[in-house]
Amino acid sequence: MKTRYAAFAVIAALAAIPLFAPGASSPSCAAGPKEPPVSFKEDILPVFQMRCVTCHSPNGEGYKVSGMDLTSYAGVMKGTKFGPMVIPRDPDASNLMRLIDWRASPTLRMPHNTQKQLSICDRNAIRTWIREGAKDN
Ligand code: HEC
Repeated sequence: MKTRYAAFAVIAALAAIPLFAPGASSPSCAAGPKEPPVSFKEDILPVFQMRCVTCHSPNGEGYKVSGMDLTSYAGVMKGTKFGPMVIPRDPDASNLMRLIDWRASPTLRMPHNTQKQLSICDRNAIRTWIREGAKDN
């Protein structure tokens, strides 16, 4: 039993690292009430391009399974073959937020098959963009 708990402690410690990684708060995280509105082109699309489009552009694995195309505003707003993932002004009701906050089932954590969640900063930018109306700005 001793080894079992020892192993668990190691796993728990490893699992905790991403939460406290210094990368979780990058300088671009300075968004505050005086910041201009979040821009889809400048703040949101680059995150999708960096972390999502390898799988979510036509021919990508995620696109093939779900129909979710993250290469353009139109694709993001269209959602999956099951329906919209972004509900303008309502981040809590937007399934996109559930998947990137890792609140859905582990098989639906996005980015898929990685230990590296989007930074709190990037997720907050996406949340704010949705709250501000999910505009094509
Ligand atoms: C390594 C490939 C990969 C990456 C990277 C990836 N995804 Fe996915 N994504 C998938 C796969 C595969 C599915 C289909 C999952 C399923 O339905 O079982 C999916 C499905 C989805 C869905 C639809 C959920 C559904 O109901 O099927 C959304 C929304 C999504 N991904 C968003 C994202 C976002 C946002 C990112 C970047 C932060 C991302 N994905 C990165 C592979 C990926």
